[in-house]
Amino acid sequence: MTLPFSQSCENNKQFILEILSRHLKAPGKLIEIAGGTGQHAEFFSAALPHVYWQSTDIPSNTQFLNQRLLAAKLPPALEFDVTQDTFEYPQVDYVFSANSLHIMPATAVVEFFRHMKSLLKIDGLLCVYGPFKYAGDFTSPSNANFDIWLKGNNPLSGIRDFEKVCELASGAGLELIEDNAMPANNQLLVWKKAR
Ligand SMILES: C[S@@+](CC[C@H](N)C(=O)[O-])C[C@H]1O[C@@H](n2cnc3c(N)ncnc32)[C@H](O)[C@@H]1O
Repeated sequence: MTLPFSQSCENNKQFILEILSRHLKAPGKLIEIAGGTGQHAEFFSAALPHVYWQSTDIPSNTQFLNQRLLAAKLPPALEFDVTQDTFEYPQVDYVFSANSLHIMPATAVVEFFRHMKSLLKIDGLLCVYGPFKYAGDFTSPSNANFDIWLKGNNPLSGIRDFEKVCELASGAGLELIEDNAMPANNQLLVWKKAR
């Protein structure tokens, strides 16, 4: 059986792991939002065995995602659409999400950060990978083109403003501790839940 696959995950997973390895040192539980193909869950949970990696995605994608998770003997994905009111799960030490904020509508990005109030423990970390704009500017011409392509697929999608996501994060009690420039004009943002 051909497992779900995305070339971009293959390209970015080692670079992301280098950052996650620095931050996800203590044993703990992690919720992945928007697990996609499951490649990140498979790769990161093998490399970080002290982290219990619980992947989630919207209900229409969990069956697809589970093909890879079950083949890798990982826990099956939980259904989680960030626009749902609540997500019933004990508080976790870490939340990770890649390439999701520019896919979901801006209203869902607000909901994404709202969930961090209840989902993340104090001192817990939120790691978000993907492209962002700074002061309204794309970080590269290719990201500007990508934004046009995204909006052609769904007018509500689009590369998010770094300042806006930081404002939403701050509203959820999160402090930005790192903004890592990554290959292919992406960022890996790391926030910590304040005491
Ligand atoms: C481009 S894919 C990224 C998947 C994977 N994280 C990766 O890096 O390849 C976007 C993901 O966002 C998820 N998604 C879209 N809307 C969502 C929502 N409202 N709540 C949670 N996930 C959502 C999709 O189901 C999909 O898995």
